[in-house]
Amino acid sequence: MPLGGAAVATDPAQVARLWEANAPAWTALSRAGGDIYRDHLNTPAFLRLLPPVAGLRGLDIGCGEATNTRAVAALGARLTALDIAPSFLRAAAASEAADPRGIRFVQGSALALPFPDASFDFATAFMCLMDVPRPEAALAEAARILRPGGFLQFSILHPCFAMPGRRVLRDTAGHAYAIEFRAAESPDGAIETWRFSGVAPELRDAHPPFQVPRFDRSLAWWINAIGATDLRLEAAEEPVADPDTAARVPTVADTRIAPLFLILRARKPGP
Ligand SMILES: C[S@@+](CC[C@H](N)C(=O)[O-])C[C@H]1O[C@@H](n2cnc3c(N)ncnc32)[C@H](O)[C@@H]1O
Repeated sequence: MPLGGAAVATDPAQVARLWEANAPAWTALSRAGGDIYRDHLNTPAFLRLLPPVAGLRGLDIGCGEATNTRAVAALGARLTALDIAPSFLRAAAASEAADPRGIRFVQGSALALPFPDASFDFATAFMCLMDVPRPEAALAEAARILRPGGFLQFSILHPCFAMPGRRVLRDTAGHAYAIEFRAAESPDGAIETWRFSGVAPELRDAHPPFQVPRFDRSLAWWINAIGATDLRLEAAEEPVADPDTAARVPTVADTRIAPLFLILRARKPGP
């Protein structure tokens, strides 16, 4: 639920401070079921597309409070999870302590991964790479830490259909019937202010809205940026709610009109 935005944050340290400020509310509200698109659409599609990872060394980039990291760990991967925001990592570590899945948590930036070359079999990044300044540097870093034959799978806001001017038009029963795409100013790092739409108002209003700097890039940009690394694009998915999910969770039914997310997988050639 976008609320608007005007300011801009392009300095990585400033972006990191905004994410640290978002972390407590994001953790509480997503764990209360507020991240409806993630839980009912995006993560299930991501996990369906993910190749087998049992026994592999994986890195989850931008792990947040680590619900998605834990889902990948549950598939048998040996995971390291990285985030820029200490509060997210504290919440993630608390879940790990309560119910261990062998995940190691590291604070750091996707723009300068604190790991040696070729040290992972795969990397994931759930809804993170469009949030970093210079996402091409994050792609290059992900490529660097993969061994030959390793892969990066990541989800982002859909470059064609999730621009700031997207507005879902719903009837009085809340059913999406159209999506409006308006021209909207979106300078690099434009801070978008918004809330999860899927939580009860009293819980939602107990927290400040999120402030998320956007680093929008076109679809062609992403394809070219992957091509500029030594990774080769091998799979893509635009998650769309199936009719049952759309009926059960009407919020996500707008994705049947135009997808909101894009998932890409790219692999480093090798054995
Ligand atoms: C939209 S949230 C997604 C969190 C989590 N992956 C999920 O799917 O629930 C984006 C995450 O990226 C992290 N992030 C933003 N910039 C980062 C950077 N430069 N390096 C590492 N993590 C970053 C944020 O702190 C936040 O946890």
